[in-house]
Amino acid sequence: MSEPYNAQTYANFGVINAFREVVHALRERNKADNAVAVALERIHRDEQRIARCLGKPVRELDILEIGGGQQMERARYFGIENRVTAIDLDVIPYGFNLGSYLRMFQENGFGRLAKTVGRKLLLVDRTKQLAWQKALGVTNLPNPTFVQGDICQGILKSETYDIVVSWSTFEHLSEPEIALQNAIQALRPGGVLYIGIHLYTSNSGHHDLRAFTGFPLPFWGHLRESTRDSIQPNSYLNEWRLSQWRSLFKREAQGFEEFLESYGSEQDLTSDIRSELSDYSDEELCTVDAFYVWQKPRV
Ligand SMILES: C[S@@+](CC[C@H](N)C(=O)[O-])C[C@H]1O[C@@H](n2cnc3c(N)ncnc32)[C@H](O)[C@@H]1O
Repeated sequence: MSEPYNAQTYANFGVINAFREVVHALRERNKADNAVAVALERIHRDEQRIARCLGKPVRELDILEIGGGQQMERARYFGIENRVTAIDLDVIPYGFNLGSYLRMFQENGFGRLAKTVGRKLLLVDRTKQLAWQKALGVTNLPNPTFVQGDICQGILKSETYDIVVSWSTFEHLSEPEIALQNAIQALRPGGVLYIGIHLYTSNSGHHDLRAFTGFPLPFWGHLRESTRDSIQPNSYLNEWRLSQWRSLFKREAQGFEEFLESYGSEQDLTSDIRSELSDYSDEELCTVDAFYVWQKPRV
């Protein structure tokens, strides 16, 4: 397990990683429409699950997103018809606000600053935003209300949100149980929790940035004795397994529903790799994202 972060950022964006990511994003710029179509299909899937659990459409509601990230794409999507707040450990600069870039440098380091400024100067983010606007048929995507802070600290008001959502963030928390308790406390009675976890035991669960920028890495490299040393995670990971997430939700959110998404990753699990990974079940190796949906009792 990597050392828990004690700085004010969860990831280590060295300058080389930042450069790699910006170059990759620049190359992928002309595929923005495709990337947005895939992302939108998944948001619609998630929205349907939330609406089903809530018993009504996701409209005119107070929503909190935990770990919205730099792009805040989902927060902006839900913001079209709802009031959205996003909490993130990192500084998220809106527009050309010099003060927030300075804070980003001080709190999150030069690598994070270089990555964000690089993406903005090369218009990568702008191209993506225009692709989102086109796909959604809107001329503007609203910024959420942003709170910079740590979800593991009790900084949220109780019973304030109808929906609390999070994608690919809980696997980065050193105290997921505290974060979950805080999230549940922030929900109104009858409100819905929707938490997506990028599973550590999945092929890309190592969060080696190179895997997300087209660099070929050994499949499930972080779990295999023979390849472990070649993997370099770029962020803190709690390394929780599927059974641990299930136990946590069973304790804190009784009656939850689970959805597992593999996105076809079972194709890469050859018999040679499988035999090296006998400690793991097929289910936890092939699940990329595990989702937990739960409605808070109305009391
Ligand atoms: C892998 S990114 C996911 C971003 C976005 N949800 C997505 O799916 O693209 C994880 C995000 O969680 C945030 N994060 C990590 N630890 C956090 C904490 N303790 N409290 C709040 N946000 C945190 C990071 O700053 C980062 O923006």
